[in-house]
Amino acid sequence: MKRVLTGFAALVLAAVALAEDPALEHWSKIYEVFSHPRCANCHVGDDHIPRWSGEHYGEPQPHGMNINADRSRIGAESVLCSTCHTQQNSPEPHGAPGAHVWLLAPVEMQWWDKSSREVCQQIQDPDRNGGRTLQAVADHIRHDELVHWGWDPGPGREPAPYSPEEVAVFIEQWAGAGAVCPEAS
Ligand code: HEC
Ligand code: HEC
Repeated sequence: MKRVLTGFAALVLAAVALAEDPALEHWSKIYEVFSHPRCANCHVGDDHIPRWSGEHYGEPQPHGMNINADRSRIGAESVLCSTCHTQQNSPEPHGAPGAHVWLLAPVEMQWWDKSSREVCQQIQDPDRNGGRTLQAVADHIRHDELVHWGWDPGPGREPAPYSPEEVAVFIEQWAGAGAVCPEAS
């Protein structure tokens, strides 16, 4: 019995240590942003289908009108994204959003449908994050106009949480604390 209790106590202690790991606390805020529809709807995988979501149609679902970005990630094989997505947000509710460029993130940067652990491993893998250091990832969030669209997404769409500067700082703090990833759940 004693041994069982000791084992149990060790497990509880390990769980507490994990929950309090500052790196994991920073990471959970980063994942809250990366998995938010304003980011994940564009960071989709090899079905090449953007997702959309909003006040009037709830949870993210496949982009209407049979849109497929295909391997070009801009729909060059069928209908170009720029047919509807211009350089600015449409001021109308349900009008197409826009930015200086409009295309899906590369397949290897998939966040849609990926677990916290999977995204955590991808974002620090230079083979899958555009060859970036974590400092470069933080600076990308700080400066990239397309990323900033997530905080200025046009009428009827909830902006991503926090601010670009806050998220860049979370990345720096997480990197400074060892860039630990959560265990698989
Ligand atoms: C025929 C017009 C049209 C084309 C072509 C088109 N879109 Fe859209 N897209 C829209 C409209 C309209 C919306 C807004 C829908 C709404 O808010 O109800 C939208 C919304 C989106 C969103 C949603 C953003 C969000 O966070 O909810 C993404 C992402 C997106 N489009 C990506 C793309 C990509 C990538 C392409 C090219 C492969 C593309 N779209 C091609 C009309 C189009
Ligand atoms: C309209 C589509 C679109 C939206 C919306 C979008 N991204 Fe991206 N994202 C891209 C593209 C395209 C790239 C590739 C750019 C590059 O590598 O230079 C990218 C790359 C990135 C990268 C580089 C590293 C990596 O592995 O992903 C980061 C970080 C990033 N996006 C963060 C965000 C965040 C945070 C949001 C939401 C606030 C967001 N993105 C929303 C299209 C999008």
